[in-house]
Amino acid sequence: MVETAVHARRSAHDFDAQSPEGFDDAHREFARLRAEHPVARSQDFGGFWAMLGYEELAEVITDIDRFTTTSQNAIPKFAFTGVRPPLHLDPPQHTSYRRVINHFFTPPKMRALEPAVRRCVQELIEPLIRQGTVDVARQYAQKLPAHVFAEFFNLSAETSLEIKTVSGTYVDAIQVLDHETVKSLSGRLYEIAQAIIDERRAGAFSAEDDLTQALLEAEYDGGPLPSAMVLGCVRQLIVTGMVAPSVFIGNMFVHLSRDPQLQQHLREHPEDIPGAVEEFVRLYNPYRGMARTARHDTVVGGQQIQEGDPIALVYTAANRDPRMFEEPDTFRLHRENIAKHISFGRGTHSCPGAPLARMMFRITLEEALSRSNFDLTGDPGMAKWAEWGTNHVPLEFIALGA
Ligand code: HEM
Repeated sequence: MVETAVHARRSAHDFDAQSPEGFDDAHREFARLRAEHPVARSQDFGGFWAMLGYEELAEVITDIDRFTTTSQNAIPKFAFTGVRPPLHLDPPQHTSYRRVINHFFTPPKMRALEPAVRRCVQELIEPLIRQGTVDVARQYAQKLPAHVFAEFFNLSAETSLEIKTVSGTYVDAIQVLDHETVKSLSGRLYEIAQAIIDERRAGAFSAEDDLTQALLEAEYDGGPLPSAMVLGCVRQLIVTGMVAPSVFIGNMFVHLSRDPQLQQHLREHPEDIPGAVEEFVRLYNPYRGMARTARHDTVVGGQQIQEGDPIALVYTAANRDPRMFEEPDTFRLHRENIAKHISFGRGTHSCPGAPLARMMFRITLEEALSRSNFDLTGDPGMAKWAEWGTNHVPLEFIALGA
């Protein structure tokens, strides 16, 4: 009897991961589903479990003995893209990469980078505010991360330009499951990563100031990190650093356009912007298809999961679990348990880039709100699974004092 019930859930199709959606649809659908199945099932992409509940997702990401990232780190799986630390490795190998990476996101490093990030924001946002009618997702959100990344990574103008061009097309190709294009652009991103490494040969950078140089000088087991892994790690950072902010930033503009009172409050009280950013990060997590695989038969949230089953970490849904957050769909400035949000993951693979992401979002709002009022001029366009968030945001800026 129990066997049959378990089997029935394996063949269930609780949701369609690829249906077209508007800005509010996915959250509404996940809320409905989560109430019945915090561990939901979809037959898309060959079948997978989806962690929609907060506790269930937290259990999967913090238990390395039961769940691994080494088989696949996203759903769907693109088979040909190679091992890229740190996300594709479990400890202990994982630790040697994270130790190096973490050092570049400390508060002093972030403070030193802040003027460059503000300059990137201003250079992109000022012309858009002058232009007035814009697509803030395409013309700003999809550009800023590459500009910031070039500063963070000490890239030459050519390399950074190339990343800007290739990474945008790469993400578009993943979205439409265009395997051939993904394969060829993934190869191109590896070449770019290799070019970044080669640039270091001239000895112009110190390991203290440059993440790539620090990886090249780091040690594991008494020797250098394997060069293929350093290459994979640089390649990993290019894409992870680029994708999430590019689908996230437009969501803040949509939210603030729909809530002019909050927009005005933050304009008058910029000291509340960091708190607002944190609540936006909870409400609008851009990842729903990052993955783990069960190492052996196990149970999560009462659901039997078989060895080898892929599991989607639906951060987009977990952060709105009413068992954790009161009125989870409501924006609350200074929510008392905001620190519990799980938008940047938890444990071993938690996001090292969170301080940089927060800085980009805060400065974006500081610069946009101090210069303009803005409002939507049409419906936002949405990215598809495995991301959640906007890829088109038609917006009108009205410059303050104009
Ligand atoms: C909206 C912004 C961002 C969000 C919401 C976000 C979220 C996340 C999450 C949830 C994970 C954990 C994935 C998992 O458990 O499998 C993660 C990992 C990671 N993120 Fe972010 N991220 C953001 C921005 C960034 C930025 C700007 C960078 C780099 C500059 C970055 C670099 C990484 C890396 C390297 C990992 C893998 C960490 C590891 O495996 O140890 N992220 N991120």
